[in-house]
Amino acid sequence: MSPSHTASLPFDLKRPIIGAPMAGGISTPELVAAVTNAGGLGFLAGGYKTPHQLAEQIIATRALTSGPIGVNLFVVAANDVDEHELETYRQELKYYADRYGIEVGTHKWDDDSWHGKLDVLQDLKPDVVSFTFDCPEVEVLDELNALDIHTAVTVTSTDEARIAAERGAQILIVQGTDAGGHRATFDPAAEPGTEPLPDLITAIRNTTDLSLIAGGGISTREQVRTVLDAGAAAVQVGTALLLADEAGTNSTHRSALQDPTFTETKVTRAFTGRPARGLRNRFMDEHDRSGHAYPQIHYITAPLRAAAAANNDPHALHLWAGTGYRTTHTGPAADIIADLTP
Ligand SMILES: Cc1cc2nc3c(=O)[nH]c(=O)nc-3n(C[C@H](O)[C@H](O)[C@H](O)COP(=O)(O)O)c2cc1C
Repeated sequence: MSPSHTASLPFDLKRPIIGAPMAGGISTPELVAAVTNAGGLGFLAGGYKTPHQLAEQIIATRALTSGPIGVNLFVVAANDVDEHELETYRQELKYYADRYGIEVGTHKWDDDSWHGKLDVLQDLKPDVVSFTFDCPEVEVLDELNALDIHTAVTVTSTDEARIAAERGAQILIVQGTDAGGHRATFDPAAEPGTEPLPDLITAIRNTTDLSLIAGGGISTREQVRTVLDAGAAAVQVGTALLLADEAGTNSTHRSALQDPTFTETKVTRAFTGRPARGLRNRFMDEHDRSGHAYPQIHYITAPLRAAAAANNDPHALHLWAGTGYRTTHTGPAADIIADLTP
């Protein structure tokens, strides 16, 4: 690896690899610390946690590494929902719930404990904080920057990159179309872009001098090199770490990632209302919906997904994965990070 790869990041890394924050229990303190201890940057996922749980995880991670760590938060905008459409979806899902003897979830909006989590970050000061789903207001980024916390905003287009740069983000995390999990697209109703990641990096590189971290579908050293050559200072990988020994990926998800009967990934709004890429399964095929009420749809399907995981049913569960899932492998995160490093 040439040192120039990370030269433009505002902090030093031995390896230009960022372990993506993965909400839902996957980014354990053990995984985050292992990525950092391997010379990359590990990220905790703040999404869906209470502020107290997030604080505990930061403290637990700090006990496992003296290197830098990142924390990611969801930025959830208020929305107007079509109550009738949501109720129709609830009825449509009733047969899934009946199968498990449970109720379909009820929908609600919340901001994922935004202010409480910001307080935790200001108190415990992780080295880097990234945001997804939207860009925080200038004041929020200013406050974190003033505490010497590096701020990063995930973007999927040149327009989003411009907004994040104007509001004071120090780093842009460029997420490409092949990424596993939720697309970071600011407007949940918009169709996320589909241009190849190197083209998106080049387009954003032409509009800003900010450091770029880029990812989406990256699972080989050659792909890492391509992304760095396109102008990124580091690469963010999620799917490549899903089978790591330290990852909290549930056993149904782990098995599906290694099951040859899952032959492709697909972007769906069926599980949460936001577009997200995962292994194509029956739930996706049976509910090919355009509804974009996030987080309401997340809450409607949450009990079904929990029951599916408990019953080891990969066809009613969100199996988030990027297009590179075929080349992911098991083993210590340190080996996975070393294998990816050019
Ligand atoms: C299981 C899973 C969960 C994810 N959760 C988050 C999250 O909580 N916050 C976030 O910013 N990105 C999340 N992402 C997206 C990653 O940050 C990143 O964009 C993506 O993993 C890159 O594509 P790849 O999975 O093909 O490497 C998630 C991705 C996966 C696969």
